[in-house]
Amino acid sequence: MVSAEDLKRAADLLRNAKNVVVLTGAGVSKESGIPTFRDAQTGIWEKYNPEELATPEGFMNDPPLVWKWYEWRRKLVKDVEPNPGHYALAALEKVVANFLLVTQNVDGLHRRAGSARLVEIHGSILRHKCFERGHAQEPIEFGLEEPPRCHCGSLVRPDVVWFGESLPPADLNSAIDAAEAADVIVVIGTSGLVQPAASIPFIGKRRGARIIEVNPNATEITVIADVFLEGASGAVLPKLVEELTGAESAS
Ligand code: OAD
Repeated sequence: MVSAEDLKRAADLLRNAKNVVVLTGAGVSKESGIPTFRDAQTGIWEKYNPEELATPEGFMNDPPLVWKWYEWRRKLVKDVEPNPGHYALAALEKVVANFLLVTQNVDGLHRRAGSARLVEIHGSILRHKCFERGHAQEPIEFGLEEPPRCHCGSLVRPDVVWFGESLPPADLNSAIDAAEAADVIVVIGTSGLVQPAASIPFIGKRRGARIIEVNPNATEITVIADVFLEGASGAVLPKLVEELTGAESAS
């Protein structure tokens, strides 16, 4: 349970901040009904390891299998809604001078909740590109059992970063530049296990940023947190925004 004192300390840090970066991970979408990346896989996907499916090799070994796994996730995302944590971050963006939301999530829920100052550093399962040349694709209907072909002849894949692939350089550089200039970095719902995203709070800390972490559990980031708000983001973030602005955020 988050103490009123810790909420006030976090709100005071944000109130005095000009440059704020927020880094989110799968935990912020958990209360929308989307399993986190390291939650156990369920149903028919239980026997598959995401770290084998989410790779270029996995895709080329069995394009229909990887395509169906992402289609299952794309449909899941289409059927769920942003939760109060997403809406609180969209509200926070409006009351901070310089704000950037850096998300590792590929589910598009931050944008649906109204966040605009946003970089999706691991891409988005709502977008597709061609495997060989990265050609952008028109929206693809649900229900295909195997990947369609690009006009260039290449197979089409989700526009997400797979294990072993580099992040989109422009988005990563925006995130690092913002972290270097940040007064406060809020880290929400990430285990902090995957690089280079997990370095973002450390880059800011090294330059004097104060770190606020929101998570029901301790993580690789907790060691550098100035304020640790223990709890689910859907419960904690609306309270943090209310403490900061005095107003309730949408939910
Ligand atoms: P993880 O599954 O590694 O971590 C999820 C985090 O969310 C954990 O720290 C949980 O304690 C926390 N959590 C669970 N429920 C929560 C809640 N209700 N509110 C807040 N936090 C909650 O997911 P990520 O850290 O996002 O990369 O994983 C990072 C990256 O690993 C993913 O983007 C993916 C994977 O490799 C790529 O696909 C490139």
